Amino acid sequence: MSKGLFIIKPVAPAGHVDAGEPVEGSLQGEATLKRTLTARHLVLLGIGAVIGAGIFVLTGQAAANHAGPAIMLSFVLAGIACALAGLCYAEFSALLPVSGSAYSFSYATLGEFTAWFIGWCLVLEYLFASSTVAVGWSSYLVSFLTSTLGLPFPAALAQAPIDWNGTEFVRTGAMFNLPAIAIVAAVSGLCYVGITQSATVNAVVVAIKVAVIAAFLGFGIQYVDPANWVPFIPENQGPGKFGFEGVTRAAAIVFFAYIGFDAVSTAAGEAKNPQRDMPIGILGSLAICTVIYIAVCAVLTGMTHYSLLGTAKPVVTAIEPFPTLSWLKTATEVGAIAGLSSVILVMLMAQPRIFYSMSQDGLLPGLFGKVHPKYQTPYVGTIIVGVAACALAGLMPLNVLGELVSMGTLLAFATVCAGVLILRYTRPELPRPFRVPVAVVLCPLGVLACLYLFWQPFTEHWKIFVGWTVLGMLVYFGYGYRHSKLRNGG
Ligand code: ALA
Repeated sequence: MSKGLFIIKPVAPAGHVDAGEPVEGSLQGEATLKRTLTARHLVLLGIGAVIGAGIFVLTGQAAANHAGPAIMLSFVLAGIACALAGLCYAEFSALLPVSGSAYSFSYATLGEFTAWFIGWCLVLEYLFASSTVAVGWSSYLVSFLTSTLGLPFPAALAQAPIDWNGTEFVRTGAMFNLPAIAIVAAVSGLCYVGITQSATVNAVVVAIKVAVIAAFLGFGIQYVDPANWVPFIPENQGPGKFGFEGVTRAAAIVFFAYIGFDAVSTAAGEAKNPQRDMPIGILGSLAICTVIYIAVCAVLTGMTHYSLLGTAKPVVTAIEPFPTLSWLKTATEVGAIAGLSSVILVMLMAQPRIFYSMSQDGLLPGLFGKVHPKYQTPYVGTIIVGVAACALAGLMPLNVLGELVSMGTLLAFATVCAGVLILRYTRPELPRPFRVPVAVVLCPLGVLACLYLFWQPFTEHWKIFVGWTVLGMLVYFGYGYRHSKLRNGG
């Protein structure tokens, strides 16, 4: 039984891919989606997925409660873990340009059972993250409508009916989060129509988001008071509160801000020239976002003392004390609304593509593998994911979802780092258009860095995580184990 459980999917390298041609010789059953994406699309997809709630919402709390001005250092630490994982993703997705991301990579190296587990973790990353960010989007929109435009919005339709107070769920008195449901539904519709259209809309949204951030940096820097950066690392005040311990705790929180660069790899099946462009897309977007994050944190904590930044809109909070920048406040709100939309878009594009791969392997029902005859998108999976994401976004509070998203993602990253090294030994002959330098050192470092960041929220939320894992096992043994094409010789 254990041999069957850990059966490994044979890997054959992708041949050279010309624009618009399907990949021949990749993982069996893949590459039936349309190949239209260029390197520029992929970098923009990465930026679209990455810059969102992490910087626009979470940074303030992490600085005010855990790291102080050293939040910049927290971003560096989280960025190092992501860079190590990013290198590994780049090697894998150039070698195997398929849609399943860490799931497909695990299937080819660590076997079916591990691949299922990672696929299940990726649901936490993509589906849950799209809902989490939709809840953040809703807060920005409602605040923009009510405080900036002076329009009323019923509170009962702007919040989940339940909240988590740290020990138990409590009723909020609200009905559901209508704006969060509406944005997920609208974005799902876009994903249904086609990836080219989705990528084009994404490019426009990314341009708005980056322009707003550039304006914040360019104008905000003039109001920086270096005294706000002293002390750089405030003295420790208890577990996870300031000091170096606080910096690492904040790194685990702001890790959320980097999630999404790996979503580029799920578009590998639709890239025109994946061998060249996947490393550019993954590493390029990660590098750009890291620089942007550290710069935003420097200006943010330089403009306003870190102790005042613990709000749901820290970038706006930093601008508010400066009346001459009131136009920038409005622009920032609009930029955040646009920025969060593109994160939701990429997450909702990624999830059905992973289900598509799992369905092709027989681990999920065939309807997840259906490709639309006209749009060539995995349309049934897109609808199912959209409905589930709407339900989560409308009914669940943001704080419960966020840490789960990070935990699922970190396990997937650690597995990809391990998988790259394993494949170097099991299939050394495979042509690798991109190679992780000194893999024997960097891959284990990537595993350790991701597991270290995983451990911090896990100690707090292990019960929910274990519950999610058990549910995944039930689905696997109830369906996937019996229908696996690989195990049944298909
Ligand atoms: N990195 C994405 C964000 O910060 C998930 O919203």
